[in-house]
Amino acid sequence: MSALTELYREIASCQKCEIARLRTRVVPGEGAENAAIMFIGEAPGWHEDQQGRPFVGPAGQYLDRLLASIKLKREQVYIANVIKCRPPNNRDPLPTEIDNCRPWLDRQIEIIRPKIIVTLGRYSMARYFPGKSISKIHGTAVKRDGVIYFAMYHPAAALHQQSLKRDIEADILKLPRLLAEASQIPEARPQSEEGKQLNLFEG
Ligand code: URA
Repeated sequence: MSALTELYREIASCQKCEIARLRTRVVPGEGAENAAIMFIGEAPGWHEDQQGRPFVGPAGQYLDRLLASIKLKREQVYIANVIKCRPPNNRDPLPTEIDNCRPWLDRQIEIIRPKIIVTLGRYSMARYFPGKSISKIHGTAVKRDGVIYFAMYHPAAALHQQSLKRDIEADILKLPRLLAEASQIPEARPQSEEGKQLNLFEG
C-alpha cells in the first residue's frame, strides 16, 4: 500500500471533531504522489462531501480551467484542503478544526514533498503567510526551507468577482516559470526582515 493510501485510511477513521459525525464522506485530497505543485484550499463543500474528492463543484471546475490555462491536468498536481470534513452549512472552519486536521496536512506534504505549495484563499494562506492580507500578497511567492509558497485567491471567490477573476487568472500564469526556476530562487531572509515579502514577479 502506498504511503498516501495508508494515510487516507487513517484520515477516514479520524473522529477528532464534531463535524466528523456530520460528514457524508471524508475528503483527504487527491493527485500525484510525486506532484511538484500542491494546491491547498479551505474545506470540502457539498459536492466534495458527496463525492469524497476535493474541488469537484463549481469552484473545482474553475480550478480545472485555471490548471488547463497552464497546460496541467488535476492528475498532475496534488489538491488538498486545510480541513478534511465539510463544516455544516459551509460555515468557516473553526480554529480547533484547523488544529485537529493539521497533522494530516503535514503528513501529506511530507509524503508528496512538493516544490511549490499554492495557497487558495485565506485559510491556507494564514498558515504560510501569517498576518498578511491576501489582496496584498496574491501572486507573490516566498521560499522557505527549499519549498516555494505561492498565494492565490480562492477560486470560489474569484468565480463571482470580476476583479479577482482577472487577478487569479494572471497569477496562475506565473506558476510555470516559478517551477522552472524553483532551484534558483533564493530563500526568504529571516523573519526579522518581515514585511519584505519576496516578490518574484514585480519590480
Ligand atoms: N472549496 C475548498 O476550499 N475546497 C474544496 O475542496 C472545494 C471548495
